[in-house]
Amino acid sequence: MLVMTIESSCDETSVALVQHGRRILANAVASQIPVHRRYGGVVPELASRNHIRDIHTVLDEALDQAGVELRDIEGYGVTSGPGLVGSLLVGLETAKGLAYSFDRPCVGLNHLEAHLTTVLLDLDDLKTPEFPYLGLIVSGGHTDLYIVHQLGDYELLGRTRDDAAGEAFDKVAKMLGLPYPGGVAIDRLSRKGNPDRHEFPRPMWTRSNLDFSFSGLKTAVALHLDKKGIPEDQALADLCASFQEAVVDVLIMKSLTACRQNDLTRLVVSGGVACNHRLRHRARRACDDDGVELFIAPPRLCTDNAAMLGPIAEWQLQGRAEQGFTNFDISARASMTLGRTRRSTSSNHR
Ligand code: KG4
Ligand code: ZN
Repeated sequence: MLVMTIESSCDETSVALVQHGRRILANAVASQIPVHRRYGGVVPELASRNHIRDIHTVLDEALDQAGVELRDIEGYGVTSGPGLVGSLLVGLETAKGLAYSFDRPCVGLNHLEAHLTTVLLDLDDLKTPEFPYLGLIVSGGHTDLYIVHQLGDYELLGRTRDDAAGEAFDKVAKMLGLPYPGGVAIDRLSRKGNPDRHEFPRPMWTRSNLDFSFSGLKTAVALHLDKKGIPEDQALADLCASFQEAVVDVLIMKSLTACRQNDLTRLVVSGGVACNHRLRHRARRACDDDGVELFIAPPRLCTDNAAMLGPIAEWQLQGRAEQGFTNFDISARASMTLGRTRRSTSSNHR
């Protein structure tokens, strides 16, 4: 199928055209980072307004890039949650409107499922993982470990009990007076910093459960700043690198523990924090040592974008097409769970 996918769950407006759930023909993204930067974080009201302003331009750009027309599109896939409701609605209503006008099927999709399955797209230099694999989602709202048994069959092994990894990056960056999005700024400064300069805590450093916690680490940085003040130049780079190292240590230790406990030999890392250069480098080394194959999409596909919806959109649309069924009642959902849990875990409210 030739499918149009639309993503607007947070502060990126994105429209993609994906063929057979694998081949990216176009992936247009309008980022709102400059709009939200002056507030130090995403302002939901501004996000929805900017989605409304940008959606048609981004849609035209995607059609141009792919060289296709609206009537060629055979189905629509759109993020229905989790995310900011006002933002999600813009993508949802656009997709539903087009599907209705052209009499095509439309499916609402889970943003987390899209992050977990991005690597199933055809990507240069990266082969596609076979099932089952371990999926680590590290984004602004989530830090979750899943077994991906196959498309549609996910088992949650662990998640953050408080802040998500990306949220910790963003909050620590804000304390340091660095621009939004904080993960990018900390990553950049860390490149010239010494990760061993400060010994920050590695929260939940235990192999007995696969949950995460990052708020204590954030507090440790805050206490350090209270005592010593905000550092500059090399000292700032060292602080960023030391904080980043603590986050990366925990993410890698828990992911490889989960692989070992479940006899999995493939690890997929996804979500915005998967752009982090230190995480990518350390994960590669650790996976090599443990005989685990590592799959991380290129950075432009780790942060929010519509192409990542391609594999699940195709899969869901095929199922629907057989039933001749399209649901125009899909609505925006601020929170949404994915898959089954092996045991009960505390919920993450973002
Ligand atoms: O997946 P994403 O684009 O949006 C959500 O679904 O949340 O992830 C955004 C998060 C932000 O917290 C941002 O600071 C973080 O990803 N991020 C990074 C890097 N690039 C983006 N964190 C660490 N290092 C990076 N290079
Ligand atoms: Zn995301």
